[in-house]
Amino acid sequence: MHPFSPRTGIRTTLRGSNNNMNQQFDQLINSFLSNKVGIAPAFLSQALSTGLRQNIAHLQQSGQMKASGIGNGEKDLQQITRTDKICWLSKTSENVFELEFLEHAEDFIAYLNRTCYAGINASEFHYAVYEKGSYYKRHKDQFKNNNSRKYSLVAYLNENWLAEDGGGLQLYDHENTEPILPHAQSAVLFKSDETEHAVLVANRSRLSISGWLKRV
Ligand code: OGA
Ligand code: MN
Repeated sequence: MHPFSPRTGIRTTLRGSNNNMNQQFDQLINSFLSNKVGIAPAFLSQALSTGLRQNIAHLQQSGQMKASGIGNGEKDLQQITRTDKICWLSKTSENVFELEFLEHAEDFIAYLNRTCYAGINASEFHYAVYEKGSYYKRHKDQFKNNNSRKYSLVAYLNENWLAEDGGGLQLYDHENTEPILPHAQSAVLFKSDETEHAVLVANRSRLSISGWLKRV
């Protein structure tokens, strides 16, 4: 929407939080457009990042984090390609942080559609934990037999992550060869069909939410 409303002749004001949120959305999209991989350092509020981290801790304690698949229904049971454990988020969850995250993602998708005509009409997200020694080898996110995944959006939940903790997001078709560290509150955006990437071996437990913006 244009900030100057022609109907009333007064400049529409956005709530502070919306402003900050749109700034993060803009940063994620603009860096994606100029660099193939977008980064927003404060995509999640600190409270939301902390709440989601606690969710993963509970899911781990109750045995709900499970070995992940590698394709449509294909399980990577030998855990050769990837050794993370995952659990899908659900809109029917009663957890406030999970619902807030999904709502935040919906807001971002609406913003992406409005500003970039992205045509996204579905999404899916899972929690992920990479225990010490875990990794995800070089891959693309779009399945070979289903092209519905258009954009990958990963949000990170790790306080005080150091370079020596490993676990960086390594990109391959990209000038920037430095791995991206999974800092709490930050998010990355890239194309699911184009961008080859890997998660380097994590030297401590690494928590995140991975998701895909889809056209179905
Ligand atoms: C994935 C993935 C990257 C990351 O879940 O497909 O590549 O940095 N995640 O967690
Ligand atoms: Mn991936």
